[in-house]
Amino acid sequence: MQSDENRALAGRRILLGVTGGIAAYKTVELVRLLVKSGAEVQVVMSGGASQFVTPMTLQAVSGRPVRQALFDEAHEAAMGHIELARWAELILVAPASASFMARLANGFADNLLSTLCLASAAPLCLAPAMNQQMWQNPATQENASRLLRRGVQLWGPASGDQACGEVGPGRMVEPEALFQQACRHFTSGVLAGVRVLLTAGPTREPIDPVRFIGNRSSGKMGFALARAFVALGAHVELVAGPVVLVTPPGVERVDVETAREMEQAVLDRVASCDIFVGCAAVADYRPEVAADQKIKKDNEQMAIQLVRNNDILAAVAAMPEGPFTVGFAAETQSPEHYAEKKRLAKKVDMIAANLVGAQSGGFERDENALTLLWAGGQAVLPMADKGVLAQQLVTLIAEHYENRHTTKDT
Ligand code: C5P
Repeated sequence: MQSDENRALAGRRILLGVTGGIAAYKTVELVRLLVKSGAEVQVVMSGGASQFVTPMTLQAVSGRPVRQALFDEAHEAAMGHIELARWAELILVAPASASFMARLANGFADNLLSTLCLASAAPLCLAPAMNQQMWQNPATQENASRLLRRGVQLWGPASGDQACGEVGPGRMVEPEALFQQACRHFTSGVLAGVRVLLTAGPTREPIDPVRFIGNRSSGKMGFALARAFVALGAHVELVAGPVVLVTPPGVERVDVETAREMEQAVLDRVASCDIFVGCAAVADYRPEVAADQKIKKDNEQMAIQLVRNNDILAAVAAMPEGPFTVGFAAETQSPEHYAEKKRLAKKVDMIAANLVGAQSGGFERDENALTLLWAGGQAVLPMADKGVLAQQLVTLIAEHYENRHTTKDT
């Protein structure tokens, strides 16, 4: 009997792009898995790809002639490239090289595969594969975030040993995992029907009508998470402190200024949410009184009495039958140590630790690195664009949320 996952691919039309990289040999296994589960797979190879795997091999496993050239009369007569672009229900490029991603990010149509990607309305998913330094290069990271902003999905890369002998992020996700992703793609978003409530950005605690206590949070990570949750089919409400960011498409946004406004906005909405992510840098203290008028500089010294704000995340985590909770821990030293203490103290399901105040990553920057901790496990997400990181983090949150439900239900 076929599983639901296998049935999801029966008769699906998948255009499988292969670009130049040692990981191309693994694509043979991916094609085999897709075809075995009933998908129609049309392989399109870039010039570089045939250095690593032969068209004959991919033709044998896919059962269809492989397409390579843009102006190939015989193939164009059978199915023109525009027809092929329309035929595809999903375009998956595995491996996607750094050069292919750069071409795509810039909209070039200088070979068959990049032309098909431009000419097709089908969802486009890339499985990046390259040397770890190439993946971490700002040029590649910029291309990745441009593609993400346009709705392209990145499946990976994974981290680990590389063919070049180095270790780090840039390995192509294994064929079996890519196959599973393709199945999930066709069984709607992994988080379809799931309601997510997120906080993002800083808060402002007024001292008087013109001054406030704030912090350096830009809201970029929280907004990137909101976008990544939407991409997985979730319904997303975003409670945002004062930030200068555009609301991602499909996200319901509530603007607040102070920690107490953020707390109220969360409490008003939390009962109907399934996942709560506290990404905001909420002020721990607020001035006990905010002056009605601008304070004059009459004295040499002045003191502002501060009082504690409630911990929104801890309050949500303490709710009976509450949502799956994810918190952040921005630390200036030993992030994992302090984050683990925070996870236990606040009783959250997962906590994402990051170092702030260092040379790279953290507040106000476009990139970050996170260590994710949960009861009995952890995952390291190396330095990457916050959009890329958000996709990886949301995928992990979705897995753990799903497991919690399966465990509860059985
Ligand atoms: O204790 P600390 O402020 O470092 O904890 C950070 C985590 O707690 C973040 O997820 C943040 O959104 C959340 N938090 C909160 N309410 C507060 C303080 C922090 O929700 N008053």
